[in-house]
Formats: sequence, structure tokens, C-alpha cells
Amino acid sequence: MDASDLGSDLERVLLTEEQLLTRLDEMAAKIDVDYAGKNVLLVGVLKGALMVMADLSRALHIDVETDWMAVSSYGSGTKSSGVVRILKDLDRDVTDRHVLVVEDIIDSGLTLSWLIANLRARGAASVEVCTMLRKPEAAKVEVDVRYVGFDIPNEFVVGYGLDHAERYRNLRVVGTLAHHVYGS
Ligand code: IMP
Ligand code: MG
Repeated sequence: MDASDLGSDLERVLLTEEQLLTRLDEMAAKIDVDYAGKNVLLVGVLKGALMVMADLSRALHIDVETDWMAVSSYGSGTKSSGVVRILKDLDRDVTDRHVLVVEDIIDSGLTLSWLIANLRARGAASVEVCTMLRKPEAAKVEVDVRYVGFDIPNEFVVGYGLDHAERYRNLRVVGTLAHHVYGS
């Protein structure tokens, strides 16, 4: 769906589809160089990373394997606690693999820092992170992220895989919702 399909439910477009895809091409070009000749496993974090994974993996020229994890963070309401439960584990073994975690957004960083430690503990040769979006002001832990698409303000955003109550993942742009959407 396009921004126009949302009408007044959409408050503001932060990033257009063209901006997202152009940036992904630039990130993919870096990844192509950095991982040339390496055995890469892209690990997408469900469900938000589905769009980034689809577009980033196709923009790459190197051969990669892809796998998925689903994790859930224990916490009150929308706040991340850093205590993570694996809902769906990897199908592949990461021992001695170069793992590149593919994320939609890094907010507090708590989920991601847990995930990185978890993958390292399993014996991955390297663990790096590629994220489409990052909210620097929301960071609770410093996570060393190698590839960042865009730093955005500390606001709740939807689209390009990101949801509000499982809606708006299929929005082409990244934007903020009008206040009346949360009230209903
Ligand atoms: P954290 O970095 O552990 O706080 O959690 C990050 C996760 O929270 C992301 O993978 C998203 O699923 C979700 N999240 C954080 N910020 C937003 C947002 O602005 N819109 C939609 N989901 C978000
Ligand atoms: Mg995520």
C-alpha cells in the first residue's frame, strides 16, 4: 500500500520507497565488498525484517544463505526488557559461519545485544548487524552496528515491515501515524 492509501491515518512520511531502496543498494555494495569470498549467513529477525531481507538480499551480488529467527522480548507493554525468548530458532548451524543479522529497526538495542551474544556463544566466526533504521536517542545499550540505513528521531514509525498491531507492514514508505489511530 502507498502513503496515499492511508489518507489521514498517516501523519508524516519519513522515508519514501525510493530513499529506502537507494540506501539498500548502497549498503549492499558495501556488504558485497566486505564479505567477498566469505561464507555468509543472513539472519533475518521476524517479522519486521521481512522487507529489508527481501530487498537487501536481492541487491547483493554475493552468494548467501538466508535463515530466520523469531524472538520475543519480555517486558511491560511496548518496553523492551532485554530478556529474550526464542520463538523460532535458526534452521542452520552458525558454527564458524560469518553471520550478518538483518534488522528492521534498532530501538533500545536490548533485543539485538542479546541476539548478538547468543550467536557468538554458538561459535559463529563473526556476527555483524545490518539495520534499515536506528533510533539513536532511544539506545539503552551500545550496539556496534556495521551497516545502518537511516538514523531517525525517537518516534514510533510504521511501514516497510514495521507494524502497529500487525498492521501497516505492507506500507511502501516509513512514516508516523496520526494520533487518532492509536486512540481507536
Ligand atoms: P529493542 O531494540 O530491543 O527495543 O526492540 C526493537 C524491536 O521493537 C524492533 O525489532 C521492532 O520490532 C520493535 N520496534 C521498535 N521501534 C519500533 C517502531 O517505531 N515501530 C514499530 N516497531 C518498533
Ligand atoms: Mg525487529
